[in-house]
Amino acid sequence: MLDLLSPAQQDPILSLSIAFRADARADKMDLGIGVYKDSQGDTPIMQAVKTAQQQLADSQTTKSYVGLAGNEAFNQAMTDLLLKGTDGYSRCATVQTPGASGALRMLGDLMYLAKPITTVWITDPSYVNHKPVMEAAGLHVNFYPYFDSVTKQVNPEAMLAALSKAGPDDVVLLHGCCHNPTGADIRTEHWQAINELAQKNGFTPFVDIAYQGFGDGLEEDAYGLRLLADSVEEMLIATSCSKNFGLYRERTGAAIVIGKNKQEATNAKGRILQLARSTYTMPPDHGAAIVETILSDDGLTKQWRAELDGMRNRIISLREGLSAALSARTGDSHFDFIKAHKGMFSMLAYSPEQMVKLREEFGIYAVGDSRINVAGLTESRIDYLADALIAVSK
Ligand SMILES: Cc1ncc(COP(=O)(O)O)c(C=O)c1O
Repeated sequence: MLDLLSPAQQDPILSLSIAFRADARADKMDLGIGVYKDSQGDTPIMQAVKTAQQQLADSQTTKSYVGLAGNEAFNQAMTDLLLKGTDGYSRCATVQTPGASGALRMLGDLMYLAKPITTVWITDPSYVNHKPVMEAAGLHVNFYPYFDSVTKQVNPEAMLAALSKAGPDDVVLLHGCCHNPTGADIRTEHWQAINELAQKNGFTPFVDIAYQGFGDGLEEDAYGLRLLADSVEEMLIATSCSKNFGLYRERTGAAIVIGKNKQEATNAKGRILQLARSTYTMPPDHGAAIVETILSDDGLTKQWRAELDGMRNRIISLREGLSAALSARTGDSHFDFIKAHKGMFSMLAYSPEQMVKLREEFGIYAVGDSRINVAGLTESRIDYLADALIAVSK
């Protein structure tokens, strides 16, 4: 049987990390994989997480199974963080999943179970795993125009014109904030236009929010999601604690379903649990237990929020520093889009050849589609990166 298999294609982002590790150059720079790094270039464990972890180690008395939906107190805390105060809050149901990746797949499987003819519309370009996950669930995938490579911002006219064609058999996948891979986010008035289209034409919004707190703040980053949750009848949400709690390897996230009423949401949750049972059965507990410990303690919540604010502000200052270093070199505002982008990533709209040049000549590793992880930069390397970006742009 195994002799029938040809070698798998390597994941473009994960293989970049392998190539980076193998590069012997001392001045190499990893702007590839999407993890936050501090000014020492480390991805630290947050202090609030360390404290919660210690409390758990001291107080936990068993490692027995938790249940198919995972930690229900965690589920409630994630629901509160995202939806409290919206109309959808009273008619939703939440399931803990192995990261947002697990949520994406469970919600994909749920859509297929409910309506196999569903088409999922994703941004062009989108998170590298959106298409594979939705297709693996058996769904059809359509791209809608999103990023304008000239302005390096969202092209709202093209996006809304495409979405005006989506109807009741369509699900529109939106990035709640900090768009991956471009860094270009949807503006308030365009969220409102999407909300109106969803109500008029009957498509289901599906919001993937993997970076809440990394853009403008925990509340601000949930603006579009909450607007939709207030008005549409049905909605799907995938959320992650990988970035905002720094729990990447603990695989902590949640799938949330909003239905016309509480009963519909509860039915959908039951179906997700059935799907999970035949996939991984139940999610890993440790990360969710940490998040629950933090969010159920006012002091730890305050500390976590302060640490998250610190990460966000540092990314913003790296963006400002890089934009300033570039405009000092070009004498114009060409690279100002870097400070206008949100979250970890910026898309440079460089060609694959330019990206190879960055890697080969300067040891700067970034994804071939020209996504750079600004959060992978350190203050002392801004000038090096600015020089390299100018050199390859010529
Ligand atoms: C947009 C988006 N969705 C989902 C994920 C998956 O996150 P997780 O680590 O929670 O599975 C990522 C991770 O990079 C992402 O960028």
